[in-house]
Amino acid sequence: MNSPIPSRPSAAGTDFLAPVFAQYPIEVVSGQGVWLMNSRGERVLDMYGGHAVAALGYGHAGFTRALTKQAEACNFQSNAVAMQVRTRAAERLVRFSRLPITSVFFINTGAEANENALKLAFKMTGRSQVCAVVGSFHGRTAGAGAVTWGAQQKWYSYPRTPFDVSFIPRGNIDAIPGFVTQQTASVIVEPVQGLAGAVDLSKEFLQALRKRCDEVGALLIFDEVQCGMGRVGYPFAANMYDVMPDMITTAKALGNGYPCAALLTNAKVTSAFKLDLLGTTFGGGPMACAVIEAVIDAIESENLLERVRRVSSYIRQTCIVGPVTGYQGAGFLTGLRTNRPAKEVQADLLECGILAGTATDPNIIRLLPPFILQEEQVDMLRDALQDLTA
Ligand SMILES: Cc1ncc(COP(=O)(O)O)c(C=O)c1O
Repeated sequence: MNSPIPSRPSAAGTDFLAPVFAQYPIEVVSGQGVWLMNSRGERVLDMYGGHAVAALGYGHAGFTRALTKQAEACNFQSNAVAMQVRTRAAERLVRFSRLPITSVFFINTGAEANENALKLAFKMTGRSQVCAVVGSFHGRTAGAGAVTWGAQQKWYSYPRTPFDVSFIPRGNIDAIPGFVTQQTASVIVEPVQGLAGAVDLSKEFLQALRKRCDEVGALLIFDEVQCGMGRVGYPFAANMYDVMPDMITTAKALGNGYPCAALLTNAKVTSAFKLDLLGTTFGGGPMACAVIEAVIDAIESENLLERVRRVSSYIRQTCIVGPVTGYQGAGFLTGLRTNRPAKEVQADLLECGILAGTATDPNIIRLLPPFILQEEQVDMLRDALQDLTA
């Protein structure tokens, strides 16, 4: 039976992709460094990094070499079979963190990392409640979506959440004891909130969460899926704030576009691991592990943490011009506050050949550039902003 293939128009032509993503008016054909090439043959400066993923930018030699070499050596074996590349990646990640991490569980996505962290906390405490923070985004699966602010009103779709969740007001230290109690299994928090608009929750607030978790025996989870792996100019936001959670989840920059994630645990959580408690087929695959090594290698050997700190501070010094009235966030998770809708400013910037992001805050342009960004490229952003109507 030959039925006619239905077609649907899309930004890039006609396709069968599920129509669930709003599309930027750009089609990318290639990338080099911090530059994307669009289908019209024009260069676009990437200040968004594919939702904070492309830490090393595009065409990075070490990344490409690691993938190719591992594909040639052995493209896959499951976690039931030992592979040195997996052992090395875990050790490298622990050393990179400079934190008292004693174990790494590799999975595939940020949401999956958070699901596993939440699950471990339930198992360890025998409790059934979780606290998250207003404005949070933790992913779209049943557990991760349950702790995402506003998800139940917007897209959650499951008939109920799998556990009780309450949301602590951002920055309200006095409110914490009323939320985090003897019934709380875990508190999950993005130290610098991403989708909310690069919102730095502050050392004081995070310290207060740590203290309260210790008082009531709850576990503290830092969701560093977006802000981790060097994006704030330190290995993790935990380093920047000097607050050590019980678990850190990370993804995005970790694989520079190769899908992978990790759940990092302290000694207390590590001691709760038992055979079969957690599992995955693809997590910790050799391709992902080879990439993780290459990403850490590049961040360390190219001194990219220092670069992120330096160039992000240059953005803050120079780009408060045109429609931009201020900034927030940390490192290359920067929000520029705009005096008119950020979506308009984003569209104007794209006209000037600069791709930037927005956030749930309608007056924030979110910048998540590759860590290799240089000052002269920030000058292009500044010049473009300067020329825009305020
Ligand atoms: C802070 C944070 N946590 C979790 C997630 C979910 O990650 P993934 O889309 O890989 O499931 C995201 C994705 O944007 C995120 O920004």
